[in-house]
Amino acid sequence: MRAVAVAAFKAEPALVHVPKPEPGAGEILVKVEFAALNPYDWKVADGLLDGQAPHVFPLVMGVDFAGRVDVVGPGEHRFVVGDRVYGQVSRPPVGAGTYAEYVTVPQDSALAGVPDTLDLRTAATLPTSGMTAAQILQNGAVLRPGQSLLIVGAAGGVGSVLTQLAAAREVRVIAAVRGDERERMAKLGAATTVDTTEEPLESRVRAQYPEGVDAVVDLVSSTPDAFAAHARLVRPGGTALTTRYVADPALVPAGVEAVNFGLKASAALLDTLAAAAATGDLKVPVDAELPLEKAPQALAQNRSGGARGKTVFAVRFGNDPETAVPRTPRSR
Ligand SMILES: NC(=O)c1ccc[n+]([C@@H]2O[C@H](COP(=O)([O-])OP(=O)(O)OC[C@H]3O[C@@H](n4cnc5c(N)ncnc54)[C@H](OP(=O)(O)O)[C@@H]3O)[C@@H](O)[C@H]2O)c1
Repeated sequence: MRAVAVAAFKAEPALVHVPKPEPGAGEILVKVEFAALNPYDWKVADGLLDGQAPHVFPLVMGVDFAGRVDVVGPGEHRFVVGDRVYGQVSRPPVGAGTYAEYVTVPQDSALAGVPDTLDLRTAATLPTSGMTAAQILQNGAVLRPGQSLLIVGAAGGVGSVLTQLAAAREVRVIAAVRGDERERMAKLGAATTVDTTEEPLESRVRAQYPEGVDAVVDLVSSTPDAFAAHARLVRPGGTALTTRYVADPALVPAGVEAVNFGLKASAALLDTLAAAAATGDLKVPVDAELPLEKAPQALAQNRSGGARGKTVFAVRFGNDPETAVPRTPRSR
């Protein structure tokens, strides 16, 4: 089957041919129709999980998918052949990813059915970004109506969903973005949008919230110091959360809870998101829809920034060549 993979850590992603996987006990084989891009994908290809989990090369990239059940493996199952499903694949070995024509998925993982009224393209945009946004509000930065939330990096995949979910709870969202995204962010529900290339974020937030905001969700800071600067905009008793594991409690002001958020994916979260997307309550902006073979260019683009919502890859089926690249397991 065709897939987009790297031959080694930090190698250039490329379209390759690898053997079609077979579902084991408790697994299904999904014929992928759409896969979605997350920064996590290129981070993993760079070696983010090296030493923490076994990898297989060529390392097929990607974790988010939507498609149809093609084969049901042995054992009990929630799904039958032909069911429309979507989810996030994150079990070892790393490298059996979703930028491919087929992927095997454990049926007891973050896997859910797609409601009839939801298209697979939209479903594919939801898993990582949507679950992250929903879980941040569930137990990372829990906010009441009328409270304020500063989102740094609000125009990307996670931020676009988080803005909507927070606004739906009547939380006042301050969206920090680069570029003139005011109209776009206002449509997603942001009360205020700050273009950080035009005005310093700190002084703008201080002017509007002299006592500090109730929470900050920082999706972009890559150092503890940069994160701490945003945490200083939070009132005592509030929460400063990073999705990039750069919260150092020693640098965050006393009284502000510092949270290094890590997603715990689940089928229940997926069900909730699919229901919201099916009714139109949740809209995930699609930045670009590209054929799978364009994934290498899209990944390079995402590394350099500029995401506005999600990039999805449409998987169109071609002829499998007779020679597929053999895959070599590698334990670390
Ligand atoms: N810990 C977890 O469980 C978890 C889960 C999901 C995601 N994440 C991580 O969270 C981060 C965000 O994910 P994502 O999917 O939302 O990424 P994304 O779709 O690539 O979006 C990132 C956004 O941040 C913006 N940005 C970058 N620097 C900025 C700055 N200084 N000020 C304002 N905006 C800025 C980018 O646009 P511009 O470049 O145009 O500014 C882009 O809109 C990634 O690092 C991802 O790996 C972690």
